[in-house]
Amino acid sequence: MKFDDVEEVIAGVQYMKTHQGRLVYDFLVENKLGRILELGFAHGKSTCYFAAAADEIGGDSHVLTFDRDSARRRSPNIHELLERTGLSDRATPVYAETSYTWELMKLLDQDPQPTFDFAYIDGGHTWDVSGFAFFLVDLLLEPGGWVLFDDLDWTLGGSKHMRKQPWVKELPEEQRSTPQVRKVFELLVKPHPGYVEVEEHDGWGWARKRPANAQSNPVQTPRRGLLSVLKPSM
Ligand SMILES: C[S@@+](CC[C@H](N)C(=O)[O-])C[C@H]1O[C@@H](n2cnc3c(N)ncnc32)[C@H](O)[C@@H]1O
Repeated sequence: MKFDDVEEVIAGVQYMKTHQGRLVYDFLVENKLGRILELGFAHGKSTCYFAAAADEIGGDSHVLTFDRDSARRRSPNIHELLERTGLSDRATPVYAETSYTWELMKLLDQDPQPTFDFAYIDGGHTWDVSGFAFFLVDLLLEPGGWVLFDDLDWTLGGSKHMRKQPWVKELPEEQRSTPQVRKVFELLVKPHPGYVEVEEHDGWGWARKRPANAQSNPVQTPRRGLLSVLKPSM
């Protein structure tokens, strides 16, 4: 499905912005990254962009996406959005009773082989959840696959909704004011020897799992995929 066709249906729904959707859609299609994992779908807006890209790539391209049971009660919910866009066959939403980290354990238990070309991490923006999610995603990503972190600068204290939660109020100030996804990106992803092409752009953190044939100190080759997409606004 073309980007403009999906955008026409989901414009105005909360979370992923049009320019972000366009950027990631183009990146997925250009690089044929059709096996997509998403952590945190909320209304399913980002899922629809990914599913549209999967549809455009064709074959068995598909999005596997996770959120909590509470996401069923969102209006619109992911099923309604996928239905409206005609993309229901391109995405499978999974509701976690507690956390997607538990669901990923089940996935690894069934099949420990890497299965995904692209993973989008946009769920619990804490050090514990995002850091552990990165560890699990790494096990599920193909060499050469990409991981993308949303909200590098998001904080618990800066979120109108989260700062009112009792468990957040009880945290030390340091944990409320620290952008925890950024800590994951800076401290776990950037120095990770298994990741290359680590880039930050517009609040997003991109990293590529080292391709199978890459040497540990690879000669820098032009990063056509990511750079050609990001270039206009870099
Ligand atoms: C910012 S929203 C996702 C927005 C969506 N990716 C988009 O751009 O349209 C974050 C979602 O992550 C979910 N979430 C947070 N922590 C989670 C966890 N540990 N397990 C499952 N879902 C989680 C929340 O329920 C919420 O719906």
